Amino acid sequence: MTTSSSLTAPRYSRILGTGSYLPEQRLTNAELAAQLARDGVETSDEWIVERTGIRARHFAAPDQTSSDLALPAARAALQAAGVAAEEIDLIIVATSTPDMVFPSTACLLQQKLGVAGCAAFDVQAVCSGFVYGLTVADAMIKSGAASKALVIGAETFSRILDFKDRTTCVLFGDGAGAVVLGASETPGILASQLHADGRHVDILCTPGTVSGGQVLGHPLLKMDGQAVFKLAVGVLEKVARAVLEKAGRTDADIDWLIPHQANIRIMQGTAKKLKLPLEKLVVTVDQHGNTSAASIPLALDVAVRSGQIKKGETVMLEGVGGGFTWGAVLLDL
Ligand code: UT7
Repeated sequence: MTTSSSLTAPRYSRILGTGSYLPEQRLTNAELAAQLARDGVETSDEWIVERTGIRARHFAAPDQTSSDLALPAARAALQAAGVAAEEIDLIIVATSTPDMVFPSTACLLQQKLGVAGCAAFDVQAVCSGFVYGLTVADAMIKSGAASKALVIGAETFSRILDFKDRTTCVLFGDGAGAVVLGASETPGILASQLHADGRHVDILCTPGTVSGGQVLGHPLLKMDGQAVFKLAVGVLEKVARAVLEKAGRTDADIDWLIPHQANIRIMQGTAKKLKLPLEKLVVTVDQHGNTSAASIPLALDVAVRSGQIKKGETVMLEGVGGGFTWGAVLLDL
């Protein structure tokens, strides 16, 4: 029999486990610079480190797709959560580099996990994708539409990089990060907020499309770095403060800040604006580069597995990127 307390008991979502995967090939700045020099493209370890904080990135093998990277990340998160793949009733993959036009990378991952039947779809919000996906999964769990979700950011950005454009090709890398989000009587996810401003579609885009059996338009990533930088710095503090207010918390309650890992200067600037000591900033951009939607769950998993972030601590996740999109999620781990 259903009791009245179970009818009224609030339902929340919480992260049950994290996982991540990086493809084998790791390229330091010096190695990448040497490769680019062969094509007459000039860059240096010094420039990349000084302007971005990036020291190395991983690139997928030619036959590795985003769902291939997502699979080991998902399996690691399931194992950490103690959840079987068959128990998952929702799969959301955040990616801007899907395996194919369709089916979704989430459906391809579902096939690779060997589980059929649950809802599976992709979220396309570029570097804010994981924060978008987590917010959607949280809402579906709270509403009762799902109970155990896999939320993944998986990217093979190396496929859309223009290796003749030094202003972008040194910035990005490939990888995947995953969480299992489960229904809970106590809140894990405390509050979130998402935004987009389509007036800025041009500052970060890959505008090509498939039409009539051909690629039409420019199929490689283009970015006005300075315009993205300026917008990012402005919105990241604002959205973090809005989410803290929603949750009834203050910046003093944040144990760890995990912003999208694009540029150490943006990340440190955001931490300072939130009055957080830099020791509370989780940094993986130095080793991963910018892995777009994968960067936040990758950084979260690295910090959890290294023992840096502990159970019960409060974490602010912040995404920002093409669209223009941005958003934040505050959670108790
Ligand atoms: O993932 C979504 C979010 N994305 C971001 O948050 C990225 C935001 N933007 C940025 O992180 C920075 O704007 C960049 C890292 C992309 C660029 O840094 P910057 O300090 O804004 O550099 P800049 O574009 O002003 O370029 C400075 C100079 C230029 O030369 P001149 O015109 O001053 O002679 C560039 O041509 O650096 C030159 N440059 C390079 N030099 C060596 C640009 N790229 C390179 C390079 N190696 N790879």
